[in-house]
Amino acid sequence: MKKSSLSILIISLFIFGFIFPQDLEYVGTHKCQTCHKSNKKGAQYKVWAESKHAKAFDALLSDKAIAIGKEKKLALPPSESPECLECHTVGYGEGGYEVKEASFWNPAPEDKSAVKAMERMEGLKNVGCEMCHGAGNDYKKKKIMEGIYAGELKAEDFGLVKKTPEETCLKCHNKRSPSFKAFNYDERVKEIAHPFPEGM
Ligand code: HEC
Ligand code: HEC
Ligand code: HEC
Ligand code: HEC
Repeated sequence: MKKSSLSILIISLFIFGFIFPQDLEYVGTHKCQTCHKSNKKGAQYKVWAESKHAKAFDALLSDKAIAIGKEKKLALPPSESPECLECHTVGYGEGGYEVKEASFWNPAPEDKSAVKAMERMEGLKNVGCEMCHGAGNDYKKKKIMEGIYAGELKAEDFGLVKKTPEETCLKCHNKRSPSFKAFNYDERVKEIAHPFPEGM
C-alpha cells in the first residue's frame, strides 16, 4: 500500500471511530422496567409510566396533533412524520425508533425474533429512559449496573448518563416544538423526579 493511501485509511478509521465511538443500541423501555419497578427501590418505571413522557407517542395520534400536521402540510400523519417523531420517540434517525409497516406490528406468535423486534420497537415509542440515560445495551446487565452504582465502574464507559444534563432536555424542549412552553431545567426536572429512596 502507498504511504498516502495508508494515511487516508488511518484517517478514515479515526473519523469513523470518532463518529461511532461504541456500538450503541437502544434496547427499549420495557428492558429497564424489569429491574426498575419495585417500590422498595423507587419504582422509576412506574413514575415514568405516569408521566407525559410515557404518552408522547400517543400525543401524535391526538386531534391536536392532526391539526398541527394539517397546518404544517405534512405529507404523512404525525405519527409517521420525521418532523414529529424526532422528539416523541427514542433515538429516531439514530438507530432507535423506525416507522414500520402493519405486518411488522402483528408478527406470527411462533416467529420469536419478529416478536422480539416488534417488542423492542414498541419499547422505543415515547420519550423512554434511554432518551435521557443513554442507549442501554452496554450497561443494562445487572453486574454492570451494580458496579456503576457501587462506584467500581465508570458510568460513561458503558454509555450510562446518570444525571441528564439540561442540553439533553433542550434538544426537544425548544421552539421547534409546535406547542413549546418555556423550559426551566431546575423546575421541570423536579416534575419528572424518580429518585432512589433515601437510605437505599
Ligand atoms: C438486570 C437489572 C437491570 C436492568 C435491566 C436495568 N437496570 Fe438500572 N440498575 C440496576 C441496579 C441493580 C442498579 C443499582 C441500584 C439498585 O440496587 O437498584 C441500577 C442503577 C441504575 C441507575 C443509577 C446508577 C447510579 O449509579 O446512580 C440508572 C440511571 C439506571 N439504573 C438506569 C437504567 C436504565 C435506563 C435501564 C434500561 C436501559 C436500566 N437501568 C436497566 C439494575 C438494572
Ligand atoms: C426526546 C425528546 C425529549 C427529551 C430529551 C425531554 N423531553 Fe420532556 N417532553 C417531551 C415531550 C414530547 C413532552 C410532551 C408529551 C405529551 O404531552 O404527550 C414532554 C413533556 C415534559 C414535561 C411535562 C410537561 C407538561 O406540560 O406537563 C416535563 C416536566 C418534561 N418534559 C421535562 C423534561 C426534562 C427535565 C428533560 C431533561 C431531563 C426532558 N423533559 C427531556 C420530549 C422530551
Ligand atoms: C423539537 C422537538 C419537538 C418536535 C419536532 C415536535 N414536538 Fe411535539 N412536543 C415537544 C415537547 C417538548 C412537548 C411538550 C410541550 C412543550 O413543547 O413544552 C410536545 C408536546 C406535543 C403535544 C401535546 C401538546 C399539548 O399541549 O397537549 C402534541 C399534540 C405535539 N407535541 C404534537 C407534535 C406534532 C404533530 C409534531 C410534528 C409536526 C411535533 N409535536 C413535533 C417536542 C417536539
Ligand atoms: C426526561 C429524562 C428522563 C427520563 C425519560 C428518565 N430519566 Fe431517570 N433520571 C433523569 C434525571 C435528570 C435524573 C437525575 C435526577 C437528579 O439527580 O436530580 C435521573 C435519575 C435516575 C435514577 C437514579 C436515581 C437516584 O436517586 O440516584 C434512576 C435509577 C433512573 N433515573 C432510572 C430511570 C428509568 C428506569 C427510566 C425509565 C423508566 C428513567 N430513569 C427515565 C432523567 C430521566
